[in-house]
Amino acid sequence: MVSIKNIHSPQQEEESTFDLSAYLAGRQVQVEAALDRAIPLTYPEKIYEAMRYSVLAGGKRLRPILCLATCELTGGTLEMAMPTACALEMIHTMSLIHDDLPAMDNDDYRRGKLTNHKVYGEDIAILAGDGLLAYAFEFIAGQTQGVPAERVLQVIAKLGNAVGAAGLVGGQVVDLESEGKPDISLETLNFIHTHKTGALLESCVVCGAILAGSPAEDLQRLSRYAQNIGLAFQIVDDILDITATQEALGKTAGKDLQAQKATYPSLWGLEESERQARQLVEAAKAELASFGPKAQPLQAIADFITNRNH
Ligand code: IPE
Ligand code: IPE
Ligand code: MG
Ligand code: MG
Ligand code: MG
Repeated sequence: MVSIKNIHSPQQEEESTFDLSAYLAGRQVQVEAALDRAIPLTYPEKIYEAMRYSVLAGGKRLRPILCLATCELTGGTLEMAMPTACALEMIHTMSLIHDDLPAMDNDDYRRGKLTNHKVYGEDIAILAGDGLLAYAFEFIAGQTQGVPAERVLQVIAKLGNAVGAAGLVGGQVVDLESEGKPDISLETLNFIHTHKTGALLESCVVCGAILAGSPAEDLQRLSRYAQNIGLAFQIVDDILDITATQEALGKTAGKDLQAQKATYPSLWGLEESERQARQLVEAAKAELASFGPKAQPLQAIADFITNRNH
């Protein structure tokens, strides 16, 4: 249970105990049910089976939950954001399937199970990623209800930018190029993190707010919140790669050192990396001040980024 103190009256402080575990568990159930419905097992079954295998393998569901929480915070409903939330998880899962391929990080385990290519082969794993990426955009365009079409268009454009060469893909390229180069600059490391991980996380938050019709200044605040937690998220992922076990992570530990990846811990050491992550989370939370107590879920999720063990 995470207690969040708000900045208003002592009475509100008393009332503001927020149970993040229960909140996350409830949202995970909703997101997983929606994802299960979204990807039916149809002909050719092999590809749908491969897509479902990785999407329904578990995972924290942080990206869809961020989208839903932000949409609600800014006056929208869960229903308005659920298709986009599902699409975000499809896109994230695509990035994991491809990230694990032998040509990239060459990983055997993901979400506590064998990786997609280990089960279905590299050819189908590549296609499962392609299928999820394309379907994500179709799903937003076709399934979003109760939202003006121009907002849906904005969401699709935002997401396309976050996932393409200007975002996730660009970050992955520099990540791969930096392998075995221990002397890369902080600037390059920040580019990797903010692009391969930060861009999609930022779009989760901003898309939730776009769907709700947020004004520009709220979009900017929420974007800064998300950029900070996005960077912190990858720093913690790199820390956990060193400090956590395979059992806790559901993926092989110690991979970054083995592959000579450019990470915060490799540049600055564990302690300083932890300090940086905590500082980013505090900066993220400060951006939410003007939303008051109703921002509790986003406040607690920011804390969860540094407190998590997987
Ligand atoms: C792992 O993401 C990949 C990164 C961007 C660091 P998550 O840690 O969110 O993975 P799941 O979705 O919980 O499996
Ligand atoms: C993940 O970075 C980035 C994306 C999947 C886009 P990592 O390579 O560090 O993620 P893990 O550790 O394999 O989950
Ligand atoms: Mg990688
Ligand atoms: Mg990897
Ligand atoms: Mg990692």
